[in-house]
Amino acid sequence: MRLSQILFSQGFGARRECEGLVAHGLVKVAGEVIDDPQAEFDVSQGLAFEVDGLPWVYHEKALVMLHKPAGYECSLKPSAWPGVHTLLPLPLRRRGVQPVGRLDQDTTGLLLLTDDGPLLHKLTSPKHHVPKVYEVTARHPLSQQQVDRLLAGVVLDDDPRPVKADAAELTGETTLRLTLVQGKYHQVKRMLAAVGNRCEQLHRSRVGGLVLPHDLPAGKWLWVDDPSAIFR
Ligand code: URA
Repeated sequence: MRLSQILFSQGFGARRECEGLVAHGLVKVAGEVIDDPQAEFDVSQGLAFEVDGLPWVYHEKALVMLHKPAGYECSLKPSAWPGVHTLLPLPLRRRGVQPVGRLDQDTTGLLLLTDDGPLLHKLTSPKHHVPKVYEVTARHPLSQQQVDRLLAGVVLDDDPRPVKADAAELTGETTLRLTLVQGKYHQVKRMLAAVGNRCEQLHRSRVGGLVLPHDLPAGKWLWVDDPSAIFR
């Protein structure tokens, strides 16, 4: 694939801009400046390069994991808080990566974003039942009876059919690990309220087989190279 085409495919700008970046000597491959936009490279193994000092690895489709901090909105048109997109580098934003589902403004933790339409559809479809694990801090001490009710199913105000936690375990007096397969609006907060408690803090630690690494600071992101890891 031609170098300018590689840059274009990765979100570094319009075709002309990408040609200019290469021709102006701003692109390095294996540490060496390549100033011929037509130079060909093999991307099948994920070519590593640098654009104006920004290291990049070619990904045909982008799938990234963001450690979402509190105070950011998942909406593409955020109203009150900055959007999670602002935490990503420009090439990913230009590629139009979209959050896979939503986390509330005050929820922290693992958020996936992708520009892969079929994958986004698969991950958000209720058919695929991707479990999500939440670490909940409740306002009041949690009882085993409340946990049992979350597991048995509670009725929320928008649907008469009860929603159940797939798993729920107490991790402290006021903390709980909750696994859900659905993704209803404010689901954890509403489930806690339905059992007479209140969610004070919410953190998502896992989506399917992907665990948020402990050493990934809030606001930072990583490539997910193998989407199938989600379904394991
Ligand atoms: N449930 C909620 O209530 N909020 C989230 O952000 C995610 C799940």
